[in-house]
Amino acid sequence: MRLAVLASGTGSLFEAMAKGGLPVAVLIADRHCRAIDEVAPMFGVPAELVERTSYGKKFDRKVYTEEVIAILKKYDVTLVAMAGFMTIFDPVIFEEYKNRILNTHPSLLPLFKGDHAVADALAAVATETGCTIHVATAELDAGPILAQEKVPVMPGDTIEALHERIKVVERVLYPKVILDYAARLGD
Ligand code: GRF
Repeated sequence: MRLAVLASGTGSLFEAMAKGGLPVAVLIADRHCRAIDEVAPMFGVPAELVERTSYGKKFDRKVYTEEVIAILKKYDVTLVAMAGFMTIFDPVIFEEYKNRILNTHPSLLPLFKGDHAVADALAAVATETGCTIHVATAELDAGPILAQEKVPVMPGDTIEALHERIKVVERVLYPKVILDYAARLGD
């Protein structure tokens, strides 16, 4: 397996993968963030910044996605793990890397899709939520589910506290699912 990890933020899931010895060939980020600026150097993982410089109507999603695909090819990547990557790709990447892109989402899908999954679970007064590891497809937060784990919502929870409780689970579950999935693919 030659794994690419895609991140936009803290990169604590990427850190867990690197610590766990997953063969991360490259870390790709869409902005300067802890994942690329601190975690990748800490583990000696090659890093590529595909900086997103425009938003809204000016953003050329296809061109951006093709830049990412070019990097995946440059590193001979066989499996992609999205770990808090905040840019939505053009569908072309899901054709090029069909069934080879995984994602983790901080809810029990199909509940609470989208960017505010943790806040939405709190707003819905859910008593439990969790995380879902799934195969990523052009449709957001909707591909085949590989694993889910429940996390309780505690009285007085904040978005940060609940999200951190979910991430504690993701840091263990995601690396394990990636390894199992790669083995199934024969990687
Ligand atoms: C995770 O909760 C993941 O489900 C979501 O973004 C978070 C990434 O956390 N998509 P980190 O940046 O790795 O700490």
